[in-house]
Amino acid sequence: MRSKTTKSSALLGMAALTTFVVLASHSCVSENLNISARGTATVQQPIRANVVSLLVDEEGLEEKRCSVNQRQCKRCGKGLTGDKRCELCEVGFFLSRNACIPMNKCNVLGDTVLGDTQRNDVARTRSPGCEAVSFYDNGHCVLHDHTALKTMGYKQGVQSARLDCKPIEDPRGDGCRASYCEKCGEGDRECLQCRGNFTRTDKGKCRYENKEEADWPDIRPPTFGSESEIIKNEVARIVSLMTIEEKIGQMTMARQKWIKPSEMKSNAVGSYLLGGDDDIGDNSAQAWARLSDRYWNATTEVGDAIIHPLFGIDAIHGHSHLSTSTLFPHNIGLGCTNDPKLIRKIGKITAKELVATGVDWTFAPTHAVAQNWRWGRTYESFSQIPANVERLAKEFVIGLQGAVNETFLGVENVLGCAKHFGGDGGTEGGIDQGNFRGTLQELKDTHLSPYFGSIEAGVQTIMASFNSWNGVKTHGNEFLLRDVLKRRLGFTGLVVGDWNGHAQVDGCSPVQCDQAVEAGVDIMMLSKRDWKGYLQNTTSSAKKGSITAEKIDDSVTRILTVKALYGAMTTPALRAAGIKERASPSQRPGAGQSSVLEAAEHRETAREAVRKSLVMLKNGAKGATGKPVPLSTTGKYLVTGRCADDIGLQNGGWTRDWQGSPNYPNRFFGKGESIYKGIRGGMDGGGSATLYQMVDGEFPDLSSYDALIFCTGEDPYAEYFGDRHWPASMDFGQFRVGAADAGFLEEVRTKYPSLTIVTLLSSGRPLYVNKEINLSDAFIAVWLPGTQGGGVADVLFGKNDLVGKLSFQWALDPCVTMEYNGAHGNDPPFTNLMLPIGYGLTYDDESLMPTLNVDHLPQCDQERR
Ligand SMILES: *[C@@H]1O[C@H](CO)[C@@H](O)[C@H](O)[C@H]1NC(C)=O
Ligand SMILES: *[C@@H]1O[C@H](CO)[C@@H](O)[C@H](O)[C@H]1NC(C)=O
Ligand SMILES: *[C@@H]1O[C@H](CO)[C@@H](O)[C@H](O)[C@H]1NC(C)=O
Ligand SMILES: *[C@@H]1O[C@H](CO)[C@@H](O)[C@H](O)[C@H]1NC(C)=O
Ligand SMILES: *[C@@H]1O[C@H](CO)[C@@H](O)[C@H](O)[C@H]1NC(C)=O
Ligand SMILES: *[C@@H]1O[C@H](CO)[C@@H](O)[C@H](O)[C@H]1NC(C)=O
Repeated sequence: MRSKTTKSSALLGMAALTTFVVLASHSCVSENLNISARGTATVQQPIRANVVSLLVDEEGLEEKRCSVNQRQCKRCGKGLTGDKRCELCEVGFFLSRNACIPMNKCNVLGDTVLGDTQRNDVARTRSPGCEAVSFYDNGHCVLHDHTALKTMGYKQGVQSARLDCKPIEDPRGDGCRASYCEKCGEGDRECLQCRGNFTRTDKGKCRYENKEEADWPDIRPPTFGSESEIIKNEVARIVSLMTIEEKIGQMTMARQKWIKPSEMKSNAVGSYLLGGDDDIGDNSAQAWARLSDRYWNATTEVGDAIIHPLFGIDAIHGHSHLSTSTLFPHNIGLGCTNDPKLIRKIGKITAKELVATGVDWTFAPTHAVAQNWRWGRTYESFSQIPANVERLAKEFVIGLQGAVNETFLGVENVLGCAKHFGGDGGTEGGIDQGNFRGTLQELKDTHLSPYFGSIEAGVQTIMASFNSWNGVKTHGNEFLLRDVLKRRLGFTGLVVGDWNGHAQVDGCSPVQCDQAVEAGVDIMMLSKRDWKGYLQNTTSSAKKGSITAEKIDDSVTRILTVKALYGAMTTPALRAAGIKERASPSQRPGAGQSSVLEAAEHRETAREAVRKSLVMLKNGAKGATGKPVPLSTTGKYLVTGRCADDIGLQNGGWTRDWQGSPNYPNRFFGKGESIYKGIRGGMDGGGSATLYQMVDGEFPDLSSYDALIFCTGEDPYAEYFGDRHWPASMDFGQFRVGAADAGFLEEVRTKYPSLTIVTLLSSGRPLYVNKEINLSDAFIAVWLPGTQGGGVADVLFGKNDLVGKLSFQWALDPCVTMEYNGAHGNDPPFTNLMLPIGYGLTYDDESLMPTLNVDHLPQCDQERR
């Protein structure tokens, strides 16, 4: 294994002529590609390729093939699914949905291609010329441009093709790496002259200047009474005693799999995380708490201060990294409940479950205001309307952290994180990590305003966004992070970077990014194994003075202030003032107890959230008197469809695995309940519900049933992989899974014209489903309900009425675009193109569904309004 590492490293930097292309056939986004030709793709403008290399395992971990047909899997995972889970891929492949996907990169400048087994890193290089399957976006090559893939003739399901790349040296001819630098100095490190709206700093860097203003409200972050004074003084005293190494250590977050507690301690590293696909090998609360204990003890001691590391994780819809915990509907569904109290309660429960497993910090809730449902993270957005996001996200924060002046950061609370600042939901074309184009006022009105409420509620951390604003990456945007967030908005907490987000800043790499520190990212989130390289490089920059000392002190001050408030830093003076040190993870409330994750009260709250999030789009024909729902519990029903009895599917992305867990058995989710199981449980009137598993070429006999309950929906996806770029249609019938399901419904309707059909659509965003709506007597959007599918039965059988209202417009046309910022507010017109925000039928309502256009357009040629 070691020799392999050496060999692949040796290949880096060499110009070679081959590479391969990437198409994640497993990922839902590529399923709809209808690509005709197979085979070798011709590239119009050959460019240079480096041989791609992954960081292979240097620890000498046992090499083992997976039993599944994954030849490129280097190491298999443990856990309930045995060795079917690939954890590490061979060189030249990246991990996607537990499978190894070939990857390619042509990199014009000859940089080391960013490649890791984490897909996130693979997706971009820093070159102004990209190979044909990727597109150029603000200094990065981004993969998965469906249009390009299509024109290149990829066949559906074909995962790779060859792409020949030819070298181009130094395209601009001046040796500059950073696009904002007009003239480079020696060694490509110093910029002599900056471009456009960048001005040169005395350190030879370029700082983005923005002369614009916006009307900022008067935001008042909480003060913590007498405590603030003591904390302020103690933190200042400790910071003055710290070495540069200790300071930079505190400003570094490494991945748990790459750092041992002893290394945390010897390098003063201040925080660690588990990545979306990382695994500690044991799915129990006890194992988690025990692990956390070891890291908590890896303290940094400065003078009389003891500083503990923080353990962070993406708990996106509940403690979603642990499949046995209580998982709630994703934010889009919670937005439809429009129930602030409920959302606060969900935040509180999430915190309790995190505390039980030793986690200190969740990178949630998302404050994005998605403006384009093509964005794969739309489901992380509470609403299309900024004010709704602000109102609900704030409650989530209060639930997690506790209310200021009540039990703020009490023993059952964790640190929350408002993300991603700013403009993540407003990128052009809904492209993940893309560019928001607009004025500061526009940015503020739609994408920054949701943070105001959370800042006032005392949110302690805010995550910088991957996206750019007018072409400048947020991680490197000092104006946005320092001038706006920290100064104008008065944010006193800390700014954490996203997953290697700093590496996307022009001129940066994963192991070097002074610009991001200067810009105001207080903690860099390092996904790569080489956290030490980052630490050393940044320390040496700090020593040389190429990072401003005051800025480092500002960052460390923020970090230690958050830690003191949370109880992860203590000194005798703090203790004397009654500011308590937090107990070791295994001594916290409920620590190590799986009963906390399974608590009936938690499950009941999740179920309540499910039933309140469902939005009924149709209930009978317009003008007709009979209403198909509620169904009687004395009836005889056939329940079928891919989402009927699959807890992984109904949970969507960010569920155990980054891109979701569709292949896990239901038992993997502990006390979770599928939609079908809930329906069966709801049949308390003597009726029956039979599950029918669809099999190709077979068709059920429906003649003796009173109704068909049909559960269809999208495959899980998360950031990036869930994007559907223009001009792909939003027609669910064009998704592979959607086409099959629409066909099934059509056949049922033809064979049993008078059978009642109730369709439940599980999706992360509004989809064009006119045909499916038309074929159904009742149609309910269930979003991504989480583990407590029983909430669906609660409304289906009339135990509870439907109260959910759309938090996003719903497209009645496959190519319609959302109205910017819900331009019509909460009461937009009902049109043939769109159902308005706030739409949702109760049992008392007459169906309003207009006559729908049911043409299936192959792809979008123009946007409609
Ligand atoms: C999809 O493929 C089929 C069969 O190859 C072809 O007839 C059809 O025109 C294609 N549709 C599009 C939109 O490319
Ligand atoms: C520079 O900033 C001004 C507004 O301050 C803006 O109008 C202009 O487009 C910006 N130029 C570039 C190249 O970003
Ligand atoms: C909390 O209490 C302090 C001191 O009593 C007060 O100054 C502060 O305004 C309060 N903060 C909030 C958010 O209520
Ligand atoms: C952590 O430190 C505490 C206090 O020093 C000690 O009691 C405990 O055993 C340590 N735990 C681990 C896992 O090292
Ligand atoms: C940073 O660290 C890495 C080692 O991890 C090293 O290869 C690199 O040259 C260092 N310096 C810069 C400026 O990136
Ligand atoms: C459903 O489609 C048929 C034609 O296929 C049309 O006649 C009917 O009006 C449609 N119904 C609705 C509610 O759109």
